[in-house]
Amino acid sequence: AKYAGSTSLATEGSSPEVRFRAVVENAREQSAKLTFLVLGHKLDTIQAVVAASDTLSRQMVKFAKNITSQSQVLVHGRVTQPKDEVKSTTIGTLEIQVTKLFVIARAETPLPIQVEDCERPLPEDGTSDAQAQKPEEEAGRPIVALNTRLNNRTIDLRAKLNLSIFTIKDGVVALFSEFLRERGFLGIQTPKMLGAASESGASVFEIKYFNTKAYLAQSPQLHKQMLIAAQFERVFEVGPVFRAENSNTARHLTEFTGLDLEMAFEEHYHEVVALLEELMLYIFNGLRTRYARETELVRRTYRVEEFKLPEAGKVPRIPFSEGVKMLREAGVEIGDYDDISTAQEKHLGRLVLQKYGTDFYVLDKYPLAVRPFYTMPSPETSANPPAEQLSNSYDFHMRGQEILSGAQRVHDAKLLQERMRGMDPPVNPDQPGLKEYVDSFKAGCPPHAGAGLGLERIVMLWLGLPNIRLATAFTRDPSRLSP
Ligand code: 4AD
Repeated sequence: AKYAGSTSLATEGSSPEVRFRAVVENAREQSAKLTFLVLGHKLDTIQAVVAASDTLSRQMVKFAKNITSQSQVLVHGRVTQPKDEVKSTTIGTLEIQVTKLFVIARAETPLPIQVEDCERPLPEDGTSDAQAQKPEEEAGRPIVALNTRLNNRTIDLRAKLNLSIFTIKDGVVALFSEFLRERGFLGIQTPKMLGAASESGASVFEIKYFNTKAYLAQSPQLHKQMLIAAQFERVFEVGPVFRAENSNTARHLTEFTGLDLEMAFEEHYHEVVALLEELMLYIFNGLRTRYARETELVRRTYRVEEFKLPEAGKVPRIPFSEGVKMLREAGVEIGDYDDISTAQEKHLGRLVLQKYGTDFYVLDKYPLAVRPFYTMPSPETSANPPAEQLSNSYDFHMRGQEILSGAQRVHDAKLLQERMRGMDPPVNPDQPGLKEYVDSFKAGCPPHAGAGLGLERIVMLWLGLPNIRLATAFTRDPSRLSP
């Protein structure tokens, strides 16, 4: 019906005339009088029959045969149900009997990579570029290395696999925004060029800003909180986040999309944790119901265990100390107040799956020492020495990897200044960019908490992609600034 552009397809026995634009995926000459074209349009594929007749010349059949793969064509034709004897060669249940055919844009040949090769998986564990660069043979066709795909990205992106990945990515953004707007959150846009680093000073990109220095935003952290101080109550943002982390891993980018939110709460920061849990389940369930076709298409290439979701209201919320205990009981060495490493995170994910039967859980009450200056110390542990103090902060994990990080924030200007000065290395609360942030709490700010999520991480883990780069249309990592 999409091709016909009308509902006339439903009429039994008729063969409606259609006109549509498509990409030639393949042209196959059957005889001097017959050529088959495989035509693609977004996620759909249909076979077109170019057969010599009273109204279509043999020359046209020859012309069709010579159309290069990936050329754009305009097709006029009739929709037919293929005859039984040729059914085995058809794709789907309908065919197009071509009446006219125009090439709109011819694809050069040969293209640097073949689109059909891009429908295939990266080498098992395409976790590092070194591995991904080593092409392997499988069933007679080369596996195109990750770097080659990224270098020729607009060709690679023509693969239906990729359109599916980016449709799902857009779905996460839509579900995120939809859920929050329904709950009274306001969409905001905060500046990406800052006078001071918003997170740790080590991972910030410095830029030249006229006659002075500026920094690319590592998160909308400071400004989203300032809008809470300005009494906006509930805000969210979807925007770019820049990290000067020289980590060449399968899960780090230097530019990614941050899904951020911040909200005032009534009595306890767990009100915010509960909303975040509900938000994540809404996203996961929405992906299941609305993007089943795209998910199925990706799963044909990247097989992954079905994501085990907890029931609503039953997301395991595990205190950090309990997580440490679980790891120790499994023989992992970890100090009470150490930050948890990536390997330990994955290990804990497996333990949680065994114990609670879910791939998604919350780790709550992290040690204060491993969290940023804006994190609220836990009041119940404030009597303890600083090294043993906990914080009202949490990370959410999916298939054993962190996808969300958040906390209750310090909303008192004096405590905030103290926290900044007490950091190692100390942060100067009087520097431009941070001073105005601190000052904004002086006019009275409600207790608030929030979170930041990594969009590409969620997409990668939901689909079981072996590398986060596959979830970016155009990757930015320590060794890639183009295309
Ligand atoms: O854990 P992060 O650094 O937290 C913040 O930015 C805080 N301001 C959030 C808050 O509201 N307290 O980043 C948040 C999320 C991580 O959980 C991860 O999913 C993703 O962003 N992320 C990255 N994704 C890709 N590449 C990187 N280099 C990433 N660093 C973090």
